[in-house]
Amino acid sequence: MAVYPIVLSQKSFAHKDKLTYPFEERGLQFGDGVYEVIRIYNGKTHLLQEHVERLFTSAEAIKLSLDYSLEEMISLLEKLITENNMTVDGKIYLQASRGSVTRDHVFPEESVEPNFYAYIEDLPRNLKYLQKGVSVITTEDIRWDLCYIKSLNLLPNVLAKQAAKEQGCFEAILHKDRRVTEASSSNVFLIRDGSIYTHPATNGILRGCVRMKVFEIAKKLNIPIVEEAFSLDDIPSADEMFLTSTTAEVMPIVKVDEGQVKDGKPGPITRQLQAAYEEDAHITINKIAETV
Ligand code: PDD
Repeated sequence: MAVYPIVLSQKSFAHKDKLTYPFEERGLQFGDGVYEVIRIYNGKTHLLQEHVERLFTSAEAIKLSLDYSLEEMISLLEKLITENNMTVDGKIYLQASRGSVTRDHVFPEESVEPNFYAYIEDLPRNLKYLQKGVSVITTEDIRWDLCYIKSLNLLPNVLAKQAAKEQGCFEAILHKDRRVTEASSSNVFLIRDGSIYTHPATNGILRGCVRMKVFEIAKKLNIPIVEEAFSLDDIPSADEMFLTSTTAEVMPIVKVDEGQVKDGKPGPITRQLQAAYEEDAHITINKIAETV
């Protein structure tokens, strides 16, 4: 994998080896910050404005004021890619925290500047899984009530994803009293009788950028989307299921815990959405349909 040495630090570009933070940093000590993961296809960002808008929403929700306009942030992130001469599939990771300061729960003085950095990495599309689908486990959603904030506090998500990995699965679907909210790092959808069901955009889930894109695509394809939480009890009779996220795209689910979804193969509506998503993102190479 290529290494992209230029990182964005505050509003400047620097070599990654120059980017160091003191151990008294609020993101590190309190998880007091927010982040985003943005897809790059062929060296071009995908859904960049949506991600930056959500970053500002998250920052505002935790009373973190970021001294960037939307346009400025977008242009800095685009420049990060060109500064690194990156032309392949990858991702931007960025985070903003409430700064470096002596540890104290209360917010620091206004003179303490938030920390902000972003870097890029290669991220090839997961064509094998996109083609064949993935297995998931189910586990209780033990997170807080403000999951629409993309906060650095990811411990429940980390534990859920690790549990999935230990059981040979790709993801962990989270539920509250058997109502499915989302997954550890993606949104979840169930299809029955031609309609797509997913949890409404309450504070209990992250408003995924790919989720919103799938809504737009489904509307165009005349596939009804119902923003209604489904239950674990609805899964055995599901026709299809899938996940969405920046890194996983539109990912078919073919097995949930010990049960197969329908015949254990990605279903036709999921395939339609995948194809439309590729088209929308102008992914002109490595199409799912062309892989084995
Ligand atoms: N995860 N739900 C959760 C809890 C997430 O962490 C994510 C994204 C999503 C999907 O959001 P989007 O479609 O905007 O990527 C839903 C990113 C990829 C991550 O943490 O790595």
